Amino acid sequence: MACISSERYNFASGPAMLPAEVLGQIRDELPNWRNSGASVLEQPFTSSAFKQLMAETEADLRALLAIPDTYRLLFMQGGASAQFGLLPLNLLHPGQGADYLESGHWARKAIAEARRHSPVNVIASGADRDFTAVPAFECWQPDPEAGYCHITSNETGNGLQLQEFPELKVPLVADMTSDFLTRPLPLERFGLIYASAQKNLGVAGLCLVIIRNDLLRAPPPGLPAAFSYAMQAEQQSRFNTPPTFALYVTGLMLRWIRRNGGVPAMAAAAQQRSRLLYGCVDHSDFYQCPQFPADRSPINVCFQLTEPGLTDTFLTLAERNGLANLRGHAAIGGIRASLYNPMPLNGVARLVEFMTDFERKHG
Ligand SMILES: Cc1ncc(COP(=O)(O)O)c(C=O)c1O
Repeated sequence: MACISSERYNFASGPAMLPAEVLGQIRDELPNWRNSGASVLEQPFTSSAFKQLMAETEADLRALLAIPDTYRLLFMQGGASAQFGLLPLNLLHPGQGADYLESGHWARKAIAEARRHSPVNVIASGADRDFTAVPAFECWQPDPEAGYCHITSNETGNGLQLQEFPELKVPLVADMTSDFLTRPLPLERFGLIYASAQKNLGVAGLCLVIIRNDLLRAPPPGLPAAFSYAMQAEQQSRFNTPPTFALYVTGLMLRWIRRNGGVPAMAAAAQQRSRLLYGCVDHSDFYQCPQFPADRSPINVCFQLTEPGLTDTFLTLAERNGLANLRGHAAIGGIRASLYNPMPLNGVARLVEFMTDFERKHG
């Protein structure tokens, strides 16, 4: 197979690719951050310079999503997986349960962890369709007594996205780890949004939480204070040392998004990229995408080869052609192209070119 180009594109689901411009900034600023004479890695988080960086990061995020003062932003650690347990611990009263939409792999993880702490009512599940579609809102069976309703806005491993967000009576809580800042949000519908940073927000180590003020309440007994939303809100996310390097990279990413047209531009680019790739899959009998078209994720495009025995050859040759990390989620298999904000359209064009060539030779 011909080598199409020497450029390399990283389709990893996370930690994911960063824009070359941001990587260059990190490299250039690393030894001497903001003329402080020291690296950002060496800044005390209590210094006025670092406090300013946190304030700027918060202001940039508020500007990008028009987040009003009725919400607090928390910079937490432990990843989205820690949030799976922290949600019931922070938001529910003793004995109270929560509603969960079982939409795929990550929703299942969130449910399993929440069940360790509180009753869980699964309002609808896509399991009977092998998670190839998001259960329609009309089928949800909410519990009116639930403390909140949890959704996974984008199923990273299954390649599904919730296209719309319902208006609910209980606080809507969303794991947006894989599609945060890839589309505009009706923020007023949410009680809480959380997202690990290593996909659209920079590097691993930081988990962003946006929480409506009325959901902040005194830490329940037994919850470590560092994991209390109220405590971190009171201390401006400096109850303990925040993940300073991840925060710095997130700040750079937010400014990169602003320079490149903000969230509407990210959404338009995501549509353009994913249309190109799904188009290639749908116009071929060699590739297939079982996901219901209306629920397909524009961010994590998952597909299979109709001859699964060719998957490893596909992946090896793709890697050799500079198309890296295309293997599907370990629990799901197949191929997955993660197309986060930094992925240029040219990366997808290269992948489509490779797929067409591969089909011609092996189909
Ligand atoms: C939707 C979703 N939720 C949660 C997680 C877990 O994130 P973390 O590894 O930061 O705990 C992931 C990781 O890929 C994810 O895609």
